[in-house]
Amino acid sequence: MSAPTVTALFRDQKFDALLVTKPENVRYLTGFTGSNGWLLVFPDGAITLYTDPRYTVQSAVQCTCQVVIAKGMLSEAIQEDLKRLKIRRVGFEAEHLTVGRYESFSDFKLKPAKVLIETLRMVKTDDEITKIRASVITNSKALEAALKRFKTGMTETELAAEIDYHSRKFGADGPAFDTIVAVGPNSAQPHARPGKTKINAGILLIDMGAFEAGYASDMTRMVHVGPPTTLYKKGYAAVLESQLAAIDAIKPGVTAGRVDQITRAVLKRHNLDKEFIHSTGHGLGLEIHEPPRLGRKDPTKLEPGMVITVEPGIYQEGWGGIRIEDTVLVTATGCEILTPTSKELRQTG
Ligand code: GLY
Ligand code: MN
Ligand code: MN
Repeated sequence: MSAPTVTALFRDQKFDALLVTKPENVRYLTGFTGSNGWLLVFPDGAITLYTDPRYTVQSAVQCTCQVVIAKGMLSEAIQEDLKRLKIRRVGFEAEHLTVGRYESFSDFKLKPAKVLIETLRMVKTDDEITKIRASVITNSKALEAALKRFKTGMTETELAAEIDYHSRKFGADGPAFDTIVAVGPNSAQPHARPGKTKINAGILLIDMGAFEAGYASDMTRMVHVGPPTTLYKKGYAAVLESQLAAIDAIKPGVTAGRVDQITRAVLKRHNLDKEFIHSTGHGLGLEIHEPPRLGRKDPTKLEPGMVITVEPGIYQEGWGGIRIEDTVLVTATGCEILTPTSKELRQTG
């Protein structure tokens, strides 16, 4: 992170220091990964990290910015410094700071700053892209290793455990979200929780992601246990067509909302648009879900260096769901699908 980028945060803003409390933003600006760290960012690009004595060594290793080891509450140490520096107008992350913490700053003029750093984070640096690529590869390797261990009659939870185990073995810090393994009608819930249902026959939806070196990957793949029905094959082909059409349209200047319209238009041609009940995708990086949102109304123009998911799906209560999801990098001329896992109709058992 270079000073000019941080200083750009202050353009058109009515504050003289920015209080950063969201851990992913703290990590982005300073490299600090401790659980208790807040920042003051100043208009000249200077940053001070406030943390506690548990992180004296870690902060010295991870950060080049000024570090204050606070003996008590971070908010008290920060307020003392703000008073000493005679700063009263302080921007804060309105989407993150709790009301209680907000009220403790009653001597100051707190100004809400919405998704400021998240906006910077949308376009990834080369180093971040390298980390996302590694995370995506680990995620795909973990799926194959887990499917090798799959046996008919295994429960959803057991297969999810295989996925999580292999993901860590291949280099992940941990899962980027609770791994979804959903069989049969359970797959009609887009965010189903794996349970004790045995995987014997039918639709199997697996949605998994890794965090590696702090960065997320996200992939959904379908496996059919036993021979698929004609209805499943038709649904799978329609979702895949919708996903590929959206990926085909991704390039700089296209809005996130436009990509969403494309997936919906394809599903509408198959009379399946009413079964698509979530947005087409989302940015990912230090968080599994971050801007932009590939939803109907997002006017964000895609730029080279953005990393997004494309994940249309259809869901029929009582029958099941079909979703196909890749992690995709926007490039200067179009996009690159980072996820190497095949999207051929897959059958097992
Ligand atoms: N499972 C989270 C997502 O695909 O967005
Ligand atoms: Mn996703
Ligand atoms: Mn996912």
